[in-house]
Amino acid sequence: MREVVQWGRFRRQGSEDLNSSRPRVAVYPGSFDPVTYGHLDLIERCAPLVDKLWVAVLRNANKQPMFSAEERVEMLREATRHLGNVEVDSFDGLLVEYARKRGACLLLRGIRAISDYEYELQMALMNRRLAPEIETMFMMAGEAFSFLSSRLVKEVIALGGNVSGLVPPQVEAKLKERLSRQPSGEK
Ligand code: PNS
Repeated sequence: MREVVQWGRFRRQGSEDLNSSRPRVAVYPGSFDPVTYGHLDLIERCAPLVDKLWVAVLRNANKQPMFSAEERVEMLREATRHLGNVEVDSFDGLLVEYARKRGACLLLRGIRAISDYEYELQMALMNRRLAPEIETMFMMAGEAFSFLSSRLVKEVIALGGNVSGLVPPQVEAKLKERLSRQPSGEK
């Protein structure tokens, strides 16, 4: 009991939020350009652990996305329609400010391989410095998706490769439609 009390003294606000009876809200941020089955696997595994999961699409990324934020949100909404406590939204600016606006106590990020770790660690520590009351939670990508990224999906499909089983059929159709509209040099 004594240890519990002492341990309690060192607990930060974020951990206390996790133990409170307040609804447990998580935010899963990303570019999602486009959503893959790797993202969806993470969403499906996290959703039962929280009361509400906001999937948040970054609007003004420095990278030039293939799909607009509205299109990315729409694809995610369609793919997560069966999950009652998942909502999709987009955001601009600091992630932690968006998470605060949503009343979130958790940020969800996926890790596929050790190469993801350094970038994720930097982001998690910066976010913790900016908002100590919000925890970052990492989940390991499903083994079947540990090689998968939106960037590779776009590259493979642009070169005529098969991406079925990597993205939902409606996303595959969107990718094909987008590539058919681009001049061949831009594919
Ligand atoms: O899918 P991605 O591109 O790896 O997602 C990156 C994302 C959206 C999580 C990250 O770029 C982000 O949080 N951007 C918002 C701006 C911000 O808060 N920057 C400081 C956090 S380190």
